[in-house]
Amino acid sequence: MCGIVAYIGKKPAQPLLIEGLKRLEYRGYDSAGLAILNGGLNVCRAVGRVANLEDKLEQTGGLQGTVGLAHTRWATHGGVTEMNAHPHRDDKSGICLVHNGIIENYSVLKTYLQEKGHVFTSETDTEVLAMLIGELYEGDLEKAVQAALREVTGAYAIAVICEKEPDVLVCARKGSPLLVGIGSGEYVVASDASAIVAHTTQAMPLDDYNVVRITREGFRSSDIHDVEVSPKVMQLELDLEQIELGRFEHYMQKEIYEQPTALRNCFRGRIAMEEGKVVLGGLSAYAKELVRAGRVILTGQGTALHAAMIGEYMLEDLAKIPACAEYASEFRYRNPIIEDGTVVIAVSQSGETADTLAALEEAKDRGALSLGVVNVVGSTISRQTDAGVYLRVGPEIGVASTKAFVGQVAVLSLITLFMARRRVMSADQCARWLEQLQTIPDKVERVLEQSDRIKKVTERYCDRENWLFLGRGYNYPTALEGALKLKEISYIHAEGMPAAEMKHGPIALINEGMPAVFIANKGRQYDKVMSNIAEVRARGGHVIAVATEGDEEIKRHVEEVLYVPEIIEPLSPMLTVIPLQLMAYHAAVIRGHDVDKPRNLAKSVTVE
Ligand code: G6P
Repeated sequence: MCGIVAYIGKKPAQPLLIEGLKRLEYRGYDSAGLAILNGGLNVCRAVGRVANLEDKLEQTGGLQGTVGLAHTRWATHGGVTEMNAHPHRDDKSGICLVHNGIIENYSVLKTYLQEKGHVFTSETDTEVLAMLIGELYEGDLEKAVQAALREVTGAYAIAVICEKEPDVLVCARKGSPLLVGIGSGEYVVASDASAIVAHTTQAMPLDDYNVVRITREGFRSSDIHDVEVSPKVMQLELDLEQIELGRFEHYMQKEIYEQPTALRNCFRGRIAMEEGKVVLGGLSAYAKELVRAGRVILTGQGTALHAAMIGEYMLEDLAKIPACAEYASEFRYRNPIIEDGTVVIAVSQSGETADTLAALEEAKDRGALSLGVVNVVGSTISRQTDAGVYLRVGPEIGVASTKAFVGQVAVLSLITLFMARRRVMSADQCARWLEQLQTIPDKVERVLEQSDRIKKVTERYCDRENWLFLGRGYNYPTALEGALKLKEISYIHAEGMPAAEMKHGPIALINEGMPAVFIANKGRQYDKVMSNIAEVRARGGHVIAVATEGDEEIKRHVEEVLYVPEIIEPLSPMLTVIPLQLMAYHAAVIRGHDVDKPRNLAKSVTVE
């Protein structure tokens, strides 16, 4: 999704802003731009990659100056054109701004501003905000921003500069993330820590309605009504190495291969084998509420929802708690019933997904205890929940989520055992689960070793435009995740569903040679899955099965087999998903797509 970087300090702003934009490229965007103050205001914008913007700057001799702002735009209002790219400006006042989010009442404001004589050059909601701040400007940028933000509804993270105040940078947030990185005599404002860590590890995340006025000498934090807000500075736990590609060709590939380490980090210090217990510091203060919980609602979007669905199965199966997983975007608007003892778990890699955040707020307002299963430390969801458990899988840059998925399933299995042990499970039983859990990182490694073979299988089928992904029980969500991965980066149409559901319609799609991926590992419904495989093959479909090592018999019933090591069924999605991630990755590379910058997608969706 859109990215912001802004700078005020003593260094030349242009290279720093460009480097910041490159760090934000992974979030997904379609145009880029920057503005730098140097006597006057200089703006440069370009459609397409940051590299296009760089070329353009080079051709025009570049921009000098030590205060500026930059943006990668992911189109919402108005097409992908240079005129719609940020920064946007109000020429009369010399105000210039970049914006993430959506100004919902932009249409009314635009009419008002047009009546006042403002002439718009873009179709964006952002230009309306620039003009509004300009209209309200009376010589104090901070005050004009506060006044304008009192008039807008919607979501925003903004950075604003003004020709008439060349040593001031103002930023503000509601609903979209923004951080102020604090250096010595310099500040880097960004929508994502990855654009800050090269310069400083001290940062202040803005809260909703926070407005911060920054000069080289310091900053002032207030709200939109100019009431001072005490700043909360945190240490960024991200180092540069973690966000560099290293020996890998793509971030997605790197993150697939990081999964064994990511899982070891996730489990470290959380498994007390001798006591047959899970130790989750983040939940200990709420252990009593969790033991007495009457129901758990898990919510998220995309991959996070698939992990949540596995959590639903585990909580009911092992902890004996009624549970359900729901799209956050549906939950937030459907007037949900929250009874006493309801716990809501928001699952999110970024901790910034707008719908997940809104669902969380809705559940909290209705009295639910809220937990976060989040990767990004200090993110909005992690701050807005009562308690939570971090994934600890390290930064995920690849747009197609991989290590966050296994991390989410791992954390949900820890939460399940944390609750199960206190409700229905003996220490011995729990210890047996924990033993199994600890074997997973090594087993993931064994699946990764088969990458070449998975690539060969993928090569055989990746010219087909329609695929099915089918699974049952714990591996029904895995099937959804496999289909999502393939769609996201290879642009092949893929549908995931419960294997039994196929008979109720999708079976009509099966024709000669159509690939159907079955998750057919050993488990309670193995025989049923085998029957579904037979139904597909009887209609000419070609079956790629993800099966359990040692299952030689299955080879006689399918076209291809990809093996995963044996593991207790509820934990199996952490293994069965790996070949599906690799298939999607290889298919995208073979088809010549930019794996880390899939078309139209954004890593973090901070608008509805
Ligand atoms: C976007 C991403 C997905 C991700 C989803 C939820 O759609 O492209 O990969 O699963 O958002 O993101 P979250 O950060 O909340 O896990």
